[in-house]
Amino acid sequence: MKTTISQSETYLNQEVTLGVWLANKRSSGKIAFLQLRDGTGFIQGVVVKADVTEEIFSLAKSLTQESSLYVTGKIVEDTRSPFGYEMQVKHIEVIHESSDYPITPKEHGPEFLMDHRHLWLRSKKQHAIMRIRNQIIQATYQFFQQEGFVKIDPPILTSSAAEGTTELFHTQYFDEEAYLSQSGQLYMEAAAMALGRVFSFGPTFRAEKSKTRRHLIEFWMIEPEMAFVTHEESLAIQESYVQFIVKSVLTHCKLELSTLDRNIDMLKNILKPFPRITYDKAINMLKEKGFTDIKWGEDFGAPHETAIAESFEQPVFITHYPKDIKAFYMKPDPNREDVVLCADLIAPEGYGEIIGGSARIDDLALMEQRYQEHQLSTEAYGWYLDLRKYGSIPHAGFGLGLERTVAWITGVEHVRETIPFPRLLNRLYP
Ligand code: 4AD
Ligand code: MG
Repeated sequence: MKTTISQSETYLNQEVTLGVWLANKRSSGKIAFLQLRDGTGFIQGVVVKADVTEEIFSLAKSLTQESSLYVTGKIVEDTRSPFGYEMQVKHIEVIHESSDYPITPKEHGPEFLMDHRHLWLRSKKQHAIMRIRNQIIQATYQFFQQEGFVKIDPPILTSSAAEGTTELFHTQYFDEEAYLSQSGQLYMEAAAMALGRVFSFGPTFRAEKSKTRRHLIEFWMIEPEMAFVTHEESLAIQESYVQFIVKSVLTHCKLELSTLDRNIDMLKNILKPFPRITYDKAINMLKEKGFTDIKWGEDFGAPHETAIAESFEQPVFITHYPKDIKAFYMKPDPNREDVVLCADLIAPEGYGEIIGGSARIDDLALMEQRYQEHQLSTEAYGWYLDLRKYGSIPHAGFGLGLERTVAWITGVEHVRETIPFPRLLNRLYP
């Protein structure tokens, strides 16, 4: 019977056949230990010379890394293995013999590994990261569906820019110019007016010349948008959502977290309510922490975010940023026109901003004023103005960057390991 490594528990003490690749191997005169993987998991295959034919034992000893095989044997418990099972191998059939696999068990530099990303994905660590990414996506759908949100897919090819024009990817759209989406938000606002509470999950593109461990050129964003919801109510949904995904990973990805040596005590501690500080307070905190040069009105960089996060065990909301450093659509604080009703959620442990969100301007005259200030043409953005003309309502939304969230939850250093095929400043291959 052909089965998968993930089904080992079901087939305990039975003889099964697994389709696998040989990840690694160790052998002596009498026994060979095969580290096998099939995508669903990892298991050790033990080949005992006395228990198999001479032919199978010498085949086991000669197997090369990443050869594909059918192995047959009994699944037994193995308390020493983190996975809990091993296979007593009786038979091996080579499907394809691999030779000179470039990623050997020794250390490789990041550029070499990135050049071989299509193969690097097979490694135990990358496997664990991708499974956790998958779990976060699954938990995202679960959370928003159970909260009554409708999944909506905004376009990727657009005629408008949500987050400013400096970081746009331009492309030709027949006779027109188009951009790759930086954010689905503007379209999600239209969708919220049609369906109430909506969320999107899709790729977004930023031609940012940033070469940091937090920046990708192509990244995936979850963007909820909610009709009749205030800024405060949006923050409550954000913290419930983040708590939900962390808990979901803790519940369903124990093995992956242990493969990654993640300190799970830090994650178990992620419980709402998350602390909230204003931008003004953040400026003061930064001054006290030795950032004496920072002035009110300046945006925060990675070192600032990290310094603020160090004062908290939970993710922290920084609210009420100056209007001039935020996007045109953000609603001003009614008590103070120079700041907007927005928040960035800063992850603990130095992973930086994982969510950006705000209440949206719902007043038509004010939005028209912003169009003038930001030179937004009614040709490209007329439709967005319509949302303020026909039954305008208070509404709010946010965007969570998937890769930064995966980096934080998995504890990996750089976002390049959190997406299958990262697009970076100097990398479009593979
Ligand atoms: O703060 P941002 O730019 O917000 C928006 O795009 C809003 N329109 C979202 C909304 O309200 N619907 O981006 C949101 C999040 C950031 O907090 C960050 O997690 C992630 O997207 N992000 C990036 N992740 C990786 N690489 C980049 N270059 C990123 N830029 C933003
Ligand atoms: Mg932001």
